[in-house]
Amino acid sequence: MTEQLDTIQSAALAALLTVHDEAALRAWYATHLAKKSPLMTALGDLGKLPKEQRVEIGKRGNEVKRALEAAYAEQEQAIEAQALARTLQENAVDVTLPGRRPRPGNLHISTKTLRHIYQVFGEMGFQVYEAPDVETDELNFGLLNIPPYHPARDMWDTFWLDNGALLRTHTSPGQIRAMREMYPNPVRVILPGKCYRYEQITARSDHQFYQIEGLVVGHGITLADLKGTMFHAARRLYGADRVVRFRGSYFPFTEPSVEVDMNCILCNGVGCRVCKYTGWLEIAGSGMVHPVVLRNGGYDPDEWSGFAFGMGLERPLMLKYVIDDIRYFYGNDLRFLRQF
Ligand code: PHE
Repeated sequence: MTEQLDTIQSAALAALLTVHDEAALRAWYATHLAKKSPLMTALGDLGKLPKEQRVEIGKRGNEVKRALEAAYAEQEQAIEAQALARTLQENAVDVTLPGRRPRPGNLHISTKTLRHIYQVFGEMGFQVYEAPDVETDELNFGLLNIPPYHPARDMWDTFWLDNGALLRTHTSPGQIRAMREMYPNPVRVILPGKCYRYEQITARSDHQFYQIEGLVVGHGITLADLKGTMFHAARRLYGADRVVRFRGSYFPFTEPSVEVDMNCILCNGVGCRVCKYTGWLEIAGSGMVHPVVLRNGGYDPDEWSGFAFGMGLERPLMLKYVIDDIRYFYGNDLRFLRQF
């Protein structure tokens, strides 16, 4: 009988050596340790043995049972460890692979340029003053000395809104707003903002674009102050070789009015394709604030004087970076935007 138990034990342990996964382990348990296994049957049959053998065989039987249980537990652990090792290997990270670089965003070329302009004018004591995009007829035209019948209205093709308001066609209405807020103090502000014109969209003109308006109101302000300011701004924005010139012009809200040109940033005034062989590039419309406009802003033109200018943003950038289509600016093509 003890030999039979020995055989049961060695057969079971031998079988366990071939068990390498959970399913096989469960099958092994069913065969060798569960209720109907040879061992359990033998133990169940103990009662049928003669009394003198019972104790010894019973003891041996329990030893075999404990041995098989221990071997089973050990194999179970080994299989679990193997499974874990396999999972770790399958999900392994190759730490030698090159990393995926996160792509940070960048500021829009217009935003960047505006900030540069704020800095340059900030150094000259200008504050940034923001005015709304939706304006009234009165602020965009009337108070700027452009009454309804005035032919100069043709200079700005307007987007009208259903309620009679409009999208500002230039940043000049901000002049009135700034003066009314700051009176009786002197004024030295730039007014950046989008402007809108009801125009055919082409490579050269969009229906929306930025302007940077400038306004200075004080005692004894002259055209020389305007020229000095434009000269300094041109050099700080476009390089130390810049010079500026004034050309007589007309705006209803300035008197006298001038166009500000600077020598071409590409050929320094020699003449090239960019400046259409004139040597000059137009950078701003400007002039001395018209007495009517000063009065509309609350300032007495007998005591106060001032200058104003309106600069474009996109055109000079197109020249500087050789951008041949203005529609790239607000077309949201990342291939364009990421370059700046
Ligand atoms: N508002 C003018 C324009 O849009 C520019 C300008 C501004 C001219 C200020 C003179 C003074 O064309």
